[in-house]
Amino acid sequence: MDMMELIRTRKSVRTFDGKAVTDADRKKLTEFIRTIQNPYEIPVEFVLLDAEAHGLSSPVLKGEQLYIAGKVRKVPHCEEAFGYSFEKMVLYAWSLGIGTTWIGGTMKREIFEREAGVQPDEIMPCISPLGFPAKKRSLKEIAMRTGIKADKRKPDQELFFERGFSAPMQPDDPQITAALEAVRLAPSAVNKQPWRIVKCGSSYHFYEVRTLSADDAPWDVQKVDLGIAICHFMSIAGGSLTVSEPEIKAPEHTVYIATVTV
Ligand SMILES: Cc1cc2nc3c(=O)[nH]c(=O)nc-3n(C[C@H](O)[C@H](O)[C@H](O)COP(=O)(O)O)c2cc1C
Repeated sequence: MDMMELIRTRKSVRTFDGKAVTDADRKKLTEFIRTIQNPYEIPVEFVLLDAEAHGLSSPVLKGEQLYIAGKVRKVPHCEEAFGYSFEKMVLYAWSLGIGTTWIGGTMKREIFEREAGVQPDEIMPCISPLGFPAKKRSLKEIAMRTGIKADKRKPDQELFFERGFSAPMQPDDPQITAALEAVRLAPSAVNKQPWRIVKCGSSYHFYEVRTLSADDAPWDVQKVDLGIAICHFMSIAGGSLTVSEPEIKAPEHTVYIATVTV
């Protein structure tokens, strides 16, 4: 599968077939993880954790045997960097047929943080199970997907704009059209899809519609979502990332995150 196909076919997997990830696949994953970089150049560390040995579980999962946790130092842009790098891992795992689910909330966080060895200057925004999808989703998973409308995505005109937030974007390059579709399909916390993009020439300004995290939260989970969106966009369109806010009037609760220039 090429990158676009991986992005199109990836779905959260919460019901696993109970088979262990083979040593060969673990090795491939471990080797790939070492190569992961993000455009913020902030290192993200991954830790594989066997569920039984570490006493780990999540109320939304069934049949999982292995977890992966991600840790990052608490520095500016760490959430976006985390989102970018963790999503690279998610897409690579899927290329091996290994299913994942981003989990930031539905877990006993203190146990995962302890077992992953999170240090006082680090955060662990999310973890994921790793395993092979069961043939049928559990009833709990079906109900959850229905509840958060997990198969739905917002249409282009609500997400992508040109020279400001009033005109819809009209991309004239098929690669950009594909990159925008990759953003649209990205996973996000509670499927809120908080990303907005404003095109100005060859620059694509990414914004976050902030609705989930309180101002005093230790980190902003929707910045993680933005990191995922940037990962999808750059995986298809390439480009380089800068952080320099343009003079564009953004709607309420909408904050500038980064610019990708292609
Ligand atoms: C940052 C982040 C945090 C998430 N946290 C959870 C979680 O705590 N529990 C859960 O079941 N799903 C969680 N999800 C998965 C989303 O609900 C899911 O990606 C979304 O509904 C879209 O469904 P899909 O991944 O199948 O496309 C999270 C996703 C992201 C990106």
